[in-house]
Amino acid sequence: MSPTCGELRGGDAGAAVTLMGWAFRRRDHGGLIFVDLRDREGVTQCVFNPATGAEAHAAAGRVRGEYVLAVRGTVQARPPGTANPQLPTGEIEVAVGEVRILNESKPLPFHLEEGVEVDEAVRLRYRYLDLRRPRLLRNFLLRDRVYQAVRASLHAAGFVEVETPFLTRSTPEGARDFLVPSRLARGHFYALPQSPQLFKQILMVAGLERYFQIVRCFRDEDLRRDRQPEFTQIDIETAFLDRDDFLPIVEGMIVEVFQAVRGIALPRPFPRLGWDEARARYGSDKPDLRFGLELADCSDLFRDAAFEVFAQAVHAGGVVKALRVPGAGGLSRRDLDGLVEEAKGSGARGMVWVRLAEGGPQASVALFRGDSALTRELAARLGAQPGDLLLLVADAFPLAAEVLGRLRAGLAARLGLIPADLFRPCWVLDFPLLEWSEEEKRWQAMHHPFTAPRDEDVELLWSEPGRVRAKAYDLVLNGQEIGGGSIRIHERRLQQRMFEVLGIGETEARAKFGFLLEALEYGAPPHGGIALGLDRLVAILAGTDSIRDVIAFPKTQKGTCPLTEAPAPVSPAQLAELGLRVEAEEE
Ligand code: AMO
Repeated sequence: MSPTCGELRGGDAGAAVTLMGWAFRRRDHGGLIFVDLRDREGVTQCVFNPATGAEAHAAAGRVRGEYVLAVRGTVQARPPGTANPQLPTGEIEVAVGEVRILNESKPLPFHLEEGVEVDEAVRLRYRYLDLRRPRLLRNFLLRDRVYQAVRASLHAAGFVEVETPFLTRSTPEGARDFLVPSRLARGHFYALPQSPQLFKQILMVAGLERYFQIVRCFRDEDLRRDRQPEFTQIDIETAFLDRDDFLPIVEGMIVEVFQAVRGIALPRPFPRLGWDEARARYGSDKPDLRFGLELADCSDLFRDAAFEVFAQAVHAGGVVKALRVPGAGGLSRRDLDGLVEEAKGSGARGMVWVRLAEGGPQASVALFRGDSALTRELAARLGAQPGDLLLLVADAFPLAAEVLGRLRAGLAARLGLIPADLFRPCWVLDFPLLEWSEEEKRWQAMHHPFTAPRDEDVELLWSEPGRVRAKAYDLVLNGQEIGGGSIRIHERRLQQRMFEVLGIGETEARAKFGFLLEALEYGAPPHGGIALGLDRLVAILAGTDSIRDVIAFPKTQKGTCPLTEAPAPVSPAQLAELGLRVEAEEE
């Protein structure tokens, strides 16, 4: 039989087998030579014994790391005491009678062993070697199972998979477009889609009713660990469903993916938090629910307190937010100074800390030290115990909440409060429809211009746009935004008003998305959808914090591909054909 290198077990002893794979590790014990043969599915120990296979043993002597081998031999139980319980195939080994070296390999530029730190630029240049590392390769087997589970779940719910163009016009997702010059229409450019937003809405007008696509999206934005210039979305759109009919469908899909891929049963329904509530309780609109550490509002305690800074902040319309960190009263002065610096780094003017120590409260501000009434009240409000640490920030609500929200997440990680392998999804709802851009002095769509206002807020769009809440929702998992979507505007009048509020004139609207507006005039059904960041979802399922670990050929922080050396200059002939001239080339 020809099993994979991850398949043989104790019960296979005595079987004649052929294995093919790469020489992962090789140990020459003078007499015996051991080669760990690796393929996609695992590693099997192969033994070359000069007494029983002189020729194979001699060949094994020439084998080096990553040589490609075919071995023929017999499965045998490992000698007593030498089994490796860490390895699925650890009970057995293959006594090799015959070996063929299918290919040789140059010495590798880096070791493939786990735990060896390798510079990412080198890893990406030799990505085909990097991907051979079992930990990384496993991510792609997992990703493949995610595709299957997503498709199975959505097909079962009546969704149809449709592809939309990559060579298209700009989509309004808020990032910069990647442009592709047209040869046939000189001076005209396609834009690579930032998402299939407009097409999926048009597919609803077309009567597809339930559409999905696992689709690449392109955004020319500054890159971070969870952002790539091209990334994959599970893009979904439905007709005739309102938010509360739609979210359970998405929830069902996520539950089925976790079940199929990791055997994990996520509790349903996912908790739902209002945008304001999420920020008030967790200091973030991407709340991590794997741990408690909820923020509290203590503004009323300080309104008339003798602590000027806080009282003033409250009188100016701000808040005093507090974070109680159970058992963190033992943090050193240096740690606490570090936290204050972090708070300032996030924009706070300052932060007060109070340690509820054995001999009485210690604090960064005298007023809270010793037996102070204020500290007693504060401790009672927060349910604080001796040994706890209290952190207080006074400022405008958004800033105070955000500052403590960041500390909350950082402290949870530092104090080991985040259980491994725990997944806590939630929905964040009722985002504002618009946000004011100080820079541009105008309203901007918080999601995109096609997002519908909540029915009860529609009239505010004519009077107080800033107070309109949107029929928008984000799916958050373990503190990361893995999806966002909305119910769309499907009526011309409302869409028109939305454009007016956004300062997009009739001509501009026609020029940019005239095709969508026109489609909306031909019997567009009510519709809405979502897009989930597939790379982020897979990264979370795979237990890695970088989406580059789940994208086969990712770009570097600078948007380059060290393997292909893209982007690269093109020939003058290619430029001439496109009617383009490059002014100055970047070094
Ligand atoms: P949005 O812009 O929120 O919505 O994107 C949806 C999800 O895609 C993921 N994502 C990214 N992942 C990796 N790298 C990036 N650069 C990146 N940008 C976004 C995130 C995000 O939640 N058309 C709307 C959806 C809709 O309204 O239906 C859209 O694209 O996980």
